[in-house]
Amino acid sequence: MSFHLDHLGILVHSLAESVPLYCALIGIDPGTVEYHDVPSEGVRVAMLKGNTTLELLEPTEPDGALARFLEKRGPGLHHLTYRAPAPLEDKLAELKAAGFEVLSDAPRVGAEGRVFFVHPKSCGGILTEFIEKD
Ligand code: CO
Repeated sequence: MSFHLDHLGILVHSLAESVPLYCALIGIDPGTVEYHDVPSEGVRVAMLKGNTTLELLEPTEPDGALARFLEKRGPGLHHLTYRAPAPLEDKLAELKAAGFEVLSDAPRVGAEGRVFFVHPKSCGGILTEFIEKD
């Protein structure tokens, strides 16, 4: 058994400011950055891809959960995302049965596939996301 870190979610005030900053920091071409709007989550994201991915998240809904998190905690690490094999329902059920506080009853559609989240209080203080990728 092993595990695969898919991406790190980093909350930012502004993609327009943060994408150039992270690109300069880690040395990647801003032209390679992929953008996605995820209206269902109230967020616009930028994907900076290397051996893992940095997902920069800019809240788009002033009263949404991400905007409130940003207000309270400031910019920085928001979540870690691990890959899980399909069907993702199996991983969700396994974690629920093991006592983890899964934040939804079923996977949802995220920017790059089906996902679910586990509450930070049941995973060492870091919001944890699982994504289905084959
Ligand atoms: Co994510």
